[in-house]
Amino acid sequence: MGQPSWCSEATSYGRVARRLTRIKAADTRLSPLSGMLDRSAAPSVAKGEPLLRTSGLSKTYDMGELKVVALNQVDFSANAGEFIVILGPSGSGKSTFLNLIGGLDTATSGEAWFQDHQLTGAREAALTRYRRDHVGFVFQFYNLVPSLTARENVRLVTEIARNPMRPEEALDMVGLGTRMDHFPAQLSGGEQQRVAIARAIAKRPDLLLCDEPTGALDSKTGVVVLEALTRVNAELGTTTLVITHNVAIRAIADRVVNFADGGIASIQVNAQRMSASSVGW
Ligand SMILES: Nc1ncnc2c1ncn2[C@@H]1O[C@H](COP(=O)(O)OP(=O)(O)OP(=O)(O)O)[C@@H](O)[C@H]1O
Ligand SMILES: [Mg+2]
Repeated sequence: MGQPSWCSEATSYGRVARRLTRIKAADTRLSPLSGMLDRSAAPSVAKGEPLLRTSGLSKTYDMGELKVVALNQVDFSANAGEFIVILGPSGSGKSTFLNLIGGLDTATSGEAWFQDHQLTGAREAALTRYRRDHVGFVFQFYNLVPSLTARENVRLVTEIARNPMRPEEALDMVGLGTRMDHFPAQLSGGEQQRVAIARAIAKRPDLLLCDEPTGALDSKTGVVVLEALTRVNAELGTTTLVITHNVAIRAIADRVVNFADGGIASIQVNAQRMSASSVGW
């Protein structure tokens, strides 16, 4: 649940290219007066400063006779540089929450703010720009373009980003410096996921949103992926939210947010974070 349609495994190069064209077109339609989330206009947020906030954030899916309350009055905030793990049973609203704060979906009521920009109620073009400039996504399935190498998959993003790192730099950060010219089919699951992380971080997003990034991986491979995520968090200061079903992963977080029944049931603060390499399941 929760994976947007454009991220389906069957993504073809043609569809990706068309999507990039739409993003470029949406960008030119933006009013320069809006100033909304223009990277050059938005000062980078210092570690520990407020980055993201929601208030009464709610989402109800209207299925005709049936109304599904996916998210119910969620109040949440995250500071720049935090590493947050989100836990909770299936159907508790984790992906819905991530999709709303990532600008992939729209709320039924309540507010979501990124810095001093309100996401709820923002027009689609502004949300497109928010996603493009500020948010990196990593999903359970890697959604790489099979006919492109690792380097070319990352380049798809760096070509439209405002202040990207080089694809090689991003792939180096996730430990794939020697596999850049391999096609996805020539890479293991964990390596493919690290390409997906490189693709997500290459534009230097403020926010990295990961929905079950280790869900399809075994423990050993999953740990390598977590090491890549914590390295990005430490070295780039990227605020990172990771949804997982794996309770062992909570030890690597600054804070653990427990979802239940569409809301936040509790939040724990870890006085000390464990390194990703010490996690096992
Ligand atoms: N597009 C949709 N249409 C209707 N209902 C939806 C839709 N997306 C999610 N839901 C419902 O909203 C609730 C929350 O779903 P969500 O995907 O956020 O849960 P989750 O915590 O991510 O679960 P999982 O751990 O299984 O991924 C569920 O009851 C789900 O069935
Ligand atoms: Mg989910």
